[in-house]
Amino acid sequence: MDYVENRMNQEASKPAAAEVQSVATPVNAILFALALLIAYYSLRPKSKPTLPPAPAPTVFQTFTPPTLLPYNGTNNMPVYLAVRGRVFDVTPGRNFYGPGGPYENFAGRDASRGLAFGSFDKEMLTEDLQGPLDKLEDLGPEEWEALKGWEERFEEKYLVVGKLVAVGEEGTKASQ
Ligand code: HEM
Repeated sequence: MDYVENRMNQEASKPAAAEVQSVATPVNAILFALALLIAYYSLRPKSKPTLPPAPAPTVFQTFTPPTLLPYNGTNNMPVYLAVRGRVFDVTPGRNFYGPGGPYENFAGRDASRGLAFGSFDKEMLTEDLQGPLDKLEDLGPEEWEALKGWEERFEEKYLVVGKLVAVGEEGTKASQ
């Protein structure tokens, strides 16, 4: 029995073979600091973060037929069209109104008559851009209904960015 007890005491007093060596050596501290430094330099942003350019602010403008004309989607221009004196930004519908689109004839123009009659004919567009606006006085109830329907659709879908007035009426009371 004494023998067993002695052996146990002997074993217990032996330094543990698998005793974990302390990791806090100076070399490890230096390596750790180095790793931190590398991580910092490789992860820090390379250049100053820049925000994407803000879209041009939408300002309510007064257009005349000639000043509306360039807004037809060519030369990177947005696409606008007018319906009964209101100018809509239909750029999100560029596929419809942009160059090559099925309704490109309306781009940059007063589209009221064409929409009312459901026609792409040239005569539907105001020919004399310097002259008076189309007063649509000859429209019948069906055409009015069609036109109102399109207007409602545009109101839901697009932003009004201005109004259309005849040349020479830009600053008049009637245009405000
Ligand atoms: C053959 C006859 C026609 C066909 C097959 C046709 C087809 C279409 C289709 C598929 C759409 C897209 C609807 C959507 O996704 O919201 C559309 C929209 C439109 N169509 Fe037509 N269309 C025709 C005639 C016309 C005519 C005669 C006009 C007027 C002159 C017209 C004016 C428009 C307009 C203004 C839009 C709305 C585009 C927008 O939401 O901004 N279409 N058409």
